[in-house]
Amino acid sequence: MLVLGLETSCDETGVALYDSERGLLADALFSQIDLHRAYGGVVPELASRDHVKRMLPLIRQVLDDAGCVATDIDAIAYTAGPGLVGALLVGASCAQALAFAWDIPAIGVHHMEGHLLAPMLEDAPPAFPFVALLVSGGHTQLVRVDGIGQYQLLGESLDDAAGEAFDKTAKLMGLRYPGGPEIARLAERGTPGRFVFPRPMTDRPGLDFSFSGLKTFTLNTWQQCQNSGDDSEQSRCDVALAFQQAVVETLTIKCRRALKQTGLNSLVIAGGVSANRALRTSLEDMTAALKGKVFYARPAFCTDNGAMIAYAGCQRLLAGQHEDLAITVQARWPMEQLPAL
Ligand code: KG4
Ligand code: ZN
Repeated sequence: MLVLGLETSCDETGVALYDSERGLLADALFSQIDLHRAYGGVVPELASRDHVKRMLPLIRQVLDDAGCVATDIDAIAYTAGPGLVGALLVGASCAQALAFAWDIPAIGVHHMEGHLLAPMLEDAPPAFPFVALLVSGGHTQLVRVDGIGQYQLLGESLDDAAGEAFDKTAKLMGLRYPGGPEIARLAERGTPGRFVFPRPMTDRPGLDFSFSGLKTFTLNTWQQCQNSGDDSEQSRCDVALAFQQAVVETLTIKCRRALKQTGLNSLVIAGGVSANRALRTSLEDMTAALKGKVFYARPAFCTDNGAMIAYAGCQRLLAGQHEDLAITVQARWPMEQLPAL
């Protein structure tokens, strides 16, 4: 089954062709980062308009790259939520219009299920059951995964998502959007141990997170540096490292706790923050100590992309699921509401 995947939930237009027999045939992405950078974050209206412009050229591009024609496509998968409603509607209407014109089925995919299954596109994919840490710009969740659509929420952020904490902290320190990669870049040159920030909510039981206090702690530290006349690049790197280490260690402590609690030793990390090298290394060490393993996607498939939507949609289509012609998207959509395969 050849599936065209469309992702438009936020500021990336992603398109891919996934074949159930041959695997991923092509994927293409247009990132709107430069468009939103001047505003320090995503402007929803600009995002929607740009998706309209990029969608059809990207579809033509993946067809060319894969050496396919439109009539080869068996079904279309599109992101139906959660995300920015206007942006989601672009992908959903495009998918439904093409599905109607080509007389093929369409399926709305949950964006976080897409992220969660992205490591399945790599060699040596994880086997069910496993614990998943979903860390993106909008979500921080620990989930027990027993199969596709069999999700049990173990814990989540009570305030900012991990990616959001990176982005907001970076903005407070005068760094560019998106903040995650910027902080990670500075942290590489940071002095270990110069600053040590708290590991929020690790001193009490449970698997929930809270990152908003860390953001304020970071701002205060950076302002103290500046007020004492030290706004050097080195100090910025030192603060960035302390922040990143606090997030990474907090996530690691909670992942370890989730593995212990469930008795599992496979951990999947997915979403934009799973591209963070320090996080990957820390979780690799932690799971190795438990004689387990951590799985993640290549960096380009950690952040938003069409391949994960094509893959997730394909699994559900193969199980006989699809949508009627109505164009329905959801800004909020708990993943536990998805039907099991
Ligand atoms: O999954 P994603 O592309 O979009 C959402 O679904 O939200 O995640 C984007 C988030 C942003 O907050 C970005 O700053 C963060 O992922 N991010 C990173 C890194 N690369 C992207 N955070 C930390 N380190 C990175 N290397
Ligand atoms: Zn995402």
